[in-house]
Amino acid sequence: EAAGKSGYPHFMLKEIHEQPESLRQTLHGRVEEMAGRVTLEEFDRGAFADIERVQFVSMGTSHHAAMYAAAQLTARGLTANTYMAGEYADCPAPIDDSTLVVAVTQSGETADTMNAIRRARDAGARTLAVTNVVGSSVTRECDESLFIRAGPEIGVAATKTFSSQVVALTLLGERIAEDSTGVQRAEMRSLLSGLSDLPGDVQQVLDESTAADVAEALYGCDAYFFLGRGPAHAVALEGALKFKEISYEHAEGFAASELKHGPLALVTDNTPVFGVITGEDDLKTISNLKEVQARGAPVVVVAPANLADKVEFADYLLPVPETHPEVAGVLANVQLQLVSYHAADQLGRPIDKPRNLAKSVTVE
Ligand code: G6P
Repeated sequence: EAAGKSGYPHFMLKEIHEQPESLRQTLHGRVEEMAGRVTLEEFDRGAFADIERVQFVSMGTSHHAAMYAAAQLTARGLTANTYMAGEYADCPAPIDDSTLVVAVTQSGETADTMNAIRRARDAGARTLAVTNVVGSSVTRECDESLFIRAGPEIGVAATKTFSSQVVALTLLGERIAEDSTGVQRAEMRSLLSGLSDLPGDVQQVLDESTAADVAEALYGCDAYFFLGRGPAHAVALEGALKFKEISYEHAEGFAASELKHGPLALVTDNTPVFGVITGEDDLKTISNLKEVQARGAPVVVVAPANLADKVEFADYLLPVPETHPEVAGVLANVQLQLVSYHAADQLGRPIDKPRNLAKSVTVE
């Protein structure tokens, strides 16, 4: 097992550090940056011309990747909804001829997700699997598959597969939008340029991150909260999930807009709040963060370096390289992966095999 870790103390840290390479694999041959086009050999041009509605079914970390993708598709004018697969299996959403149901599952074996996709298929939906595992059960149940190509992931806590899911779903989303609603070529070029730069930008985060110091400074607090809006909401939820899974500390993610409607009652000087900012549109989150800071909470901001002057009020700053806002969330998530890893390590937790959890949940 030690050999498999290539010198890293845990698979999770190894897999976090593999992300520049796994993202290169996800992107390989799929991006034509100059032409401003995405090419997925799995899908001919026009394959999604009839699609107006996308329903994502997924669990856990994959659910957060789906939320990220749904926020992007909604911004492109499609109707995109996410469903926790276990809920969808019990109470499926109505579908019609223009509905595509996308199962997002790293393993391709999650029982809840399999059941949701069977319900959708039986109702006549077109079904598509986005998965890491070639030949997995979900690829046999779905009409079509798109592979995220992240390589094997051993740590129970999903890390590199989340990043590759978001990128693969971003590419799929652009293909769907191009065929159905049409895309703005200049905007697409800017996004594709951000995606092409992503492996190098992740490497820069890995090389320069001070997440270990932040985790140490915030050791032993009562609870840890994570805020974001739009795709950054999905990153906040994923940041909190990772933190609770491996540190066993109480952690919750919220939509920044939700803060005043309840969560604010939980905020004290012993509950650090992490704010995820991906671009100018997220600057509204800053007033939420100032509000929790006024109540004594230590504030950690994860934000693109070019917005540093807007977030200098933060008690701790975890910068990411300047990029397209829809890519910045992946970089912010890498910072949060490192915070969770170091917090759990400082607490002496069994990081690769957290208590009670399994890599693949094959029962409902
Ligand atoms: C389990 C794992 C999570 C994973 C979830 C969904 O809960 O511990 O890391 O996100 O299952 O798994 P899937 O393979 O469907 O992505």
